[in-house]
Amino acid sequence: MTINPVFTDATPIAAPDAGRQFLDDALAGLTAPRKFLSAKYFYDKAGSDLFEAITRQPEYYPTRTELGILDVQGASIAAALPARANLVEFGSGSTAKVRRLMAHRPDLAGYVPVDVSADFLRSEAEALGRDFPHLSITPVAADFTRAFTLPEGLAGPVAGFFPGSTIGNFEPPQAARLLAHFGRVLGPEATLIIGVDLVKDRAVLDAAYDDAAGVTAAFNRNLLVRLSHELGAEIDIDAFAHRAFFDVEASRIEMHLVSLKAQTLRLANRRIAFAEGETIHTENSYKYTVEGFRDLAREAGWIAGEVWTDPDLLFSIHALTRN
Ligand code: AVJ
Repeated sequence: MTINPVFTDATPIAAPDAGRQFLDDALAGLTAPRKFLSAKYFYDKAGSDLFEAITRQPEYYPTRTELGILDVQGASIAAALPARANLVEFGSGSTAKVRRLMAHRPDLAGYVPVDVSADFLRSEAEALGRDFPHLSITPVAADFTRAFTLPEGLAGPVAGFFPGSTIGNFEPPQAARLLAHFGRVLGPEATLIIGVDLVKDRAVLDAAYDDAAGVTAAFNRNLLVRLSHELGAEIDIDAFAHRAFFDVEASRIEMHLVSLKAQTLRLANRRIAFAEGETIHTENSYKYTVEGFRDLAREAGWIAGEVWTDPDLLFSIHALTRN
């Protein structure tokens, strides 16, 4: 039986108080003893475009390497999915990666992309529906880190797909909680295919987050542009520089915006003072060893299965199961 794409709008496109939330979070972060802004605010339209551009920089190996693993080992990775599965993709963005699994599994029953951006979901899902006409596609507009329910009436087993090493943005205990949450969403029989960036030479990591063309710098500073445009903040954006480095102890890339001089910015009638050299911590990107990630998955109640990597051991894709 052929089921044509089904579109459901499970939740609204954006919370009606999204702007208020951004202001509250920005004020809380910028008045903390060590200033910070949440990495989730990188991704407005301009930020998403800048991230796309980052993935095309020669120094930024993760996207191209993960796509390469899927190209070379896609058949073996897709074989880890149960027969006639419904594939739930968390934070789907582009469909380039999932297409590389689908190509090997014509028996796939359904695809459920879960993303906060309903518009993007719809256009990507429509294009996918044209290329895989037998697939039942049910986009869900939701924040995958929160409780949400899968569409009703999915026939057959459920599997999850979480590429891109987005898991690296979470502190390890939170990452374990997110993996456990995926287990609850997907159910007791689930399989999860997840992409995880690996620990490697520090110079390679540092360069990946500070490309010569300055795209990552623009991506980082886009947070200040958003504060200015959306929240009316008065900021000398040129007086902040991009800084990114690998912290070996914490096994994470840290991104910061460094104040190049003593200065004060204004946000919602608050004056926020910066010393010269003081930073706003904007992102962590954790890097795992293969074994370290398998331990984290086990902590979250998964059984660690097969692992696929590129020949240079830059990036890994893991298959996890529940029982
Ligand atoms: C989208 C979270 C996987 O950590 O590599 C890229 C985001 N930040 N360059 C990453 C990012 C700076 C990216 N993730």
